[in-house]
Amino acid sequence: MTAAADINVTRAETSKLKDINLENIPFGKYFTDHMLEVDYEDGKWKNAEIKPYQPLLLAPSLAALHYGQAIFEGIKAYKNDAGEAFIFRPYDNFKRFNTSAERMAMPQVPEEIFMEGMRMLIDIDKSWIPGQKDHSLYIRPFMFSSDEMIGVRPSEKYKFLIILSPTGPYYAAPMRINVEEHYVRAVPGGVGFAKAAGNYAGAMYATAQARAKGFDQVLWMDALEHKYVQECGVMNVFFIIGNTAVTPDLKEGTILAGVTRDSAIVLLKEMGYTVEERAISIDEITEAYKQGTLKEVFGTGTAATISMIKALNYKDFEMIFDVEQWKAAPEVKRRMDAIKAGVEVDNHGWMYKI
Ligand code: COI
Repeated sequence: MTAAADINVTRAETSKLKDINLENIPFGKYFTDHMLEVDYEDGKWKNAEIKPYQPLLLAPSLAALHYGQAIFEGIKAYKNDAGEAFIFRPYDNFKRFNTSAERMAMPQVPEEIFMEGMRMLIDIDKSWIPGQKDHSLYIRPFMFSSDEMIGVRPSEKYKFLIILSPTGPYYAAPMRINVEEHYVRAVPGGVGFAKAAGNYAGAMYATAQARAKGFDQVLWMDALEHKYVQECGVMNVFFIIGNTAVTPDLKEGTILAGVTRDSAIVLLKEMGYTVEERAISIDEITEAYKQGTLKEVFGTGTAATISMIKALNYKDFEMIFDVEQWKAAPEVKRRMDAIKAGVEVDNHGWMYKI
C-alpha cells in the first residue's frame, strides 16, 4: 500500500470542535471529527479509509468480544508556538504494536498504514491539538479480531483503527499507591509485555479494591514471590535511591517496554543519575526509605507522562514523600515537556513532524 494514495478520505461535513473547550479537558472523553479504519481479510489489509468518527456495526458473535484478541497503543501529538504539529516517538509505538500483535497471534500492521494513516489523520484533525501545558492530542491505534465465529482460534479477519482524543492530564495530582500483595498483573511467559486489552481488564478488580481503600493505584509485584516490583497501575515505575535511578528490567517479559520509560532513562542519564534496570524488591525499597536514601518514586507512561507518588503503602507501613522537595522527577518532566513543546532542542530525534 503506497500511503496517501491508498487511504481514502471522506471528510466530516461539520466539525464538533466548536462545541468543545480544549482547556482542562478530561482524559479520553472527547474524540475528534475523523478516524482511520482498515480491514484485514484474506491475508491482506484493505479498505483503508479516513472517515467521520462514527460507531462501528459489529456482530454479537464478533471474536474479539468473546476472547479478547485485541491490542492497542497510546501516543501523543503536540503543537509548538508556531502551530506546527509533532508526534512523540511514534515509530517506537509502531514497533511495539507489532510486537503485541505477534504475541496475540494477530497480523502485523504495515508501516504505511500505521504511520501514514496516523500522519494523515492528525493532519486532517490538527486543529484539535490543544496548546496549553499538560494537554495533548492522545492517539489511540487499536486492532481487534473480527471473525463472526465463536470457536477459539486466531481470527482470519481483523480491524485496525486509529481514533484521536484531545486530552488533559491523566493523573492531575501526586498519587497514593498500595503495594498489591495478592492479585498479579503478569507472569513470566505471559502477555505482560504486550499492550493487550486483557492486561487492563485483568487489573481492574484489584485497582477498584485499592481505590475503595483510598489509594489511587496499585504497585504490581511479581507473581511467583510477591517480592519484586513490576509496574505501577498503568505505568512503569522509577525509584530514586541516592543518586541512582532504579527501574525494573524487561528481561522476564512481564513489563511493558514504555516509550516514556525509555525517554526518562535517557534524560536521567543526561542529568547525571546512574540508571539501573534491574530487579528491585519491596524489601530494598522499604529499607532505603528507613535509611533515608529513597528520595523519589514516580510512574512513567504516555497518558500519565511523569506522575509523582506521594505515598507508598506496604502492608501497614506507609512511606510518605514531600514531592515539593523532589529534583529528578520534576526535572525529567520539565525537560520532556520542553522537548515536546519545541522549547528545548530535540537532540534525540524524538519529535516526528506531521
Ligand atoms: C498509556 O499510557 O497510553 C496507556 O496506555 C495507559 C492507558 C491505558 C490510559
